[in-house]
Amino acid sequence: MGVSISLDDLLGDEVRRDPYPFYARLHEMGEAVAFRPADPHALVVHGYDAVNRVLRDPVFRVLGAEYLDRAGTRWRAHPVIRTLQASMLNAPEGDHLRVRQLFTQALTPRRVAALEPAIQRIADGLLDGLAEAGAAGRPADFMGELALRLPSDVVGELLGVPERDRAWFPSRVRTFDAVLEIGRRSMREVRAANEAATELLAYFTELLAARRAAPREDFVSALVRIRDRSPDQLTEDELLANLIIMYNAGFRTTANLLGNGLVLLLERPDALAALRADPSLAASYVEEILRYEPPVHFAVRYAARDSEVAGLPVPEGATVVVLTGAANRDPRRFADPDSFDPSRADNRHLAFSAGPHYCFGAALARAEGRLVLPRLLDRFPALALAEEPGERRQLMLRGYDRLLVRVAAPAPAPR
Ligand code: HEM
Repeated sequence: MGVSISLDDLLGDEVRRDPYPFYARLHEMGEAVAFRPADPHALVVHGYDAVNRVLRDPVFRVLGAEYLDRAGTRWRAHPVIRTLQASMLNAPEGDHLRVRQLFTQALTPRRVAALEPAIQRIADGLLDGLAEAGAAGRPADFMGELALRLPSDVVGELLGVPERDRAWFPSRVRTFDAVLEIGRRSMREVRAANEAATELLAYFTELLAARRAAPREDFVSALVRIRDRSPDQLTEDELLANLIIMYNAGFRTTANLLGNGLVLLLERPDALAALRADPSLAASYVEEILRYEPPVHFAVRYAARDSEVAGLPVPEGATVVVLTGAANRDPRRFADPDSFDPSRADNRHLAFSAGPHYCFGAALARAEGRLVLPRLLDRFPALALAEEPGERRQLMLRGYDRLLVRVAAPAPAPR
């Protein structure tokens, strides 16, 4: 019998804290490893080429409604799961293509480029808040003041959510997100996520009605126009679910790009100084941050018919854990994968996945990272961590909950 691992190895405390030594051991075992028979998944796929192939291979599919129905239809009673299943993330092949094409018509490169001044304005406002929170050398929380607010405000701006409503979103979106992590969830978490989904659905139902009555130049109005022109092409449920998923998919991910990136830079003063001296390097820094410390470490797919990965059999219906976070550190693909090197050539990491479900908001996320990190360094020349960063324990949405920094020198002691 070949080598196998257990899901508990992957989800153990040590790996959650620092998965990279475990990923390095996986790479010594080839491109994929079988789970033990008692585990719910067949394989973990971790080699760059194998991960890239599985994500693009139509045999391997997202766990959509047809997959969930195999185990019963109880999931349909949960608004949070219904919303996830009605969105692009989990739509079956044909529906996925149709919906994604329609959404792509509304998220043009021009619309993303036109958002840049708004991203800068939102960032500057939040940097003011960070400066105030950190005045006189007080430790200020980078996540709470900036990283966990900016992406939500930016998606709000894109969609056309009125400014007065935007502060309402982060707590709902975070509660909704709890169901995305691998492993068991408590009933309390599921109930809270269902409530958050119901509130988000109600909010967007009203916003759609308002934009239908009085269209604007925003993304929601563009989608309402597309839907009303060809109602058989996009159902109201699909429209709602995908608006919510844009908020969710773009929220903690981008927040963690900023938080993970900031810690990487503060731990590497030379890299930080080089970026401060030449902000035009920001785009390649963002790519290397995404490769080195991706906000999302894995996806799950199931085999629609008997297949194999790296010579290991995957029977029809079996699921595989696709470890993009490990693929990004595959020594067969990236020279010296455990060193942070923003000057890396050909940095085609898999932090945004690959294939049909490749991140829909990648251009927006990249713009946020590229614009915000240099602005932060420029604004606070003495920026430093105020304490060791806490632990990161999630693999799905991996980042810090809190990150205390100092943005200013302490006030002189009174004489
Ligand atoms: C650094 C930030 C981000 C990261 C690391 C990230 C990562 C990902 C990944 C890994 C997937 C694919 C999951 C899979 O293959 O199963 C994905 C899909 C998606 N992302 Fe992102 N994302 C980011 C930001 C955003 C933003 C800002 C938005 C929206 C405005 C967004 C919207 C989406 C959507 C709608 C999907 C589903 C696409 C589909 O299934 O066709 N993401 N993202």
